[in-house]
Amino acid sequence: MNKLIIFDTTLRDGEQAAGASLNIQEKLEIARALEALGVDVIEAGFPISSPGDFEAVKKIASEVKGCSICGLARANPKDIDRAWEALQGAADPRIHVFISASDVHMVHQLKKSRAEVLQLARDMVAHARTYLSNIEFSPMDASRSDPQFLYELLQAVIEAGATTLNIPDTVGYAMPGEFGGLIEGIFKNVPNIDKAVISVHCHDDLGLSVANSLEAVRRGARQVECTMNGIGERAGNAALEEVIMAIRTRPDYYDVTTSINSELIYPTSRLVSQRTGFSVQPNKAVVGGNAFRHQSGIHQDGVIKMPKTYEIMDPRTVGVPASSLVLGKSSGRHAFKERLAELGYNLSEADFDRAFNAFKELADKKKEVADRDIESLVAEEQRTLVE
Ligand code: KIV
Ligand code: ZN
Repeated sequence: MNKLIIFDTTLRDGEQAAGASLNIQEKLEIARALEALGVDVIEAGFPISSPGDFEAVKKIASEVKGCSICGLARANPKDIDRAWEALQGAADPRIHVFISASDVHMVHQLKKSRAEVLQLARDMVAHARTYLSNIEFSPMDASRSDPQFLYELLQAVIEAGATTLNIPDTVGYAMPGEFGGLIEGIFKNVPNIDKAVISVHCHDDLGLSVANSLEAVRRGARQVECTMNGIGERAGNAALEEVIMAIRTRPDYYDVTTSINSELIYPTSRLVSQRTGFSVQPNKAVVGGNAFRHQSGIHQDGVIKMPKTYEIMDPRTVGVPASSLVLGKSSGRHAFKERLAELGYNLSEADFDRAFNAFKELADKKKEVADRDIESLVAEEQRTLVE
């Protein structure tokens, strides 16, 4: 099977999310958790963006040795020099150079021609190559760029020494089939493409970042850039946990393996949520509070008989202790009996019927019936019987 490189950018693009700011200690703590999780590359920050980010990248580079540490740089010598200064102490440093490749970016933002961008990209990759050999290049807004220009640009930066070519869907505009087609086009039209790893970096503006990343993997991409809990600029980036669990759950679909220790997904998700202050929505795939909780009677009955009826993943494989049955108005007798047994009650048939009726009345008034509600309704029933 092919190895899929997991490039985690929680500490760079993830931290770019409005309102998410991490101090050096918090970044180091998350970097250590990502290393334990088994990611291959940590993009630790954008060293030229602030003295704090420079220090954070430097600290992570000197202390986290189990994976490659990457720093972002625009295509100019100052950014690249500063990134190298921060990364020198890393066991396996990587510089990530980017420049816009779409006409809308080049004309309105960069104010440069295609020829100028091509030259700058080539020269800046060559400049980074004077420091190290692990160089990633990103043509920003690739999914809205002219494919012919993209092919030319990619060929030039490989010649200059880039070893990973990252194809960003910067504004989350691409559709899965279209994005997959772009990746296939790159493999067909860039003559020296076998000298580099193709990576993808998808944003979630239309909720398609994971679908686009996975389609790219099916077409040959061998690195996915993602963040924990999908945090990132605007609507965020592809969520690491979703990419990993899609690949693990559907090996019939994806012919790749990763080094991720999936049991650490949930604890890492909690850590990132706590440190960024971004709560995870309850229905979030894989790591949401409700991801393994069953509320309807039919589903609860199925899960009690055989978890696979309504669970495509074993919660323990992502570090969630076990699935849980939520008692509410659509829960049935079977789930209620199980919960009573877990709470230590063994009621007679008649007592059980009374307790179940009382539970149903309560469930109509409350969103969720907690264990302490059950204990007090059983106690109440037993008191009424004695009186
Ligand atoms: O979304 C994007 O294009 C980026 C680049 C810097 C890779 O984050
Ligand atoms: Zn991005």
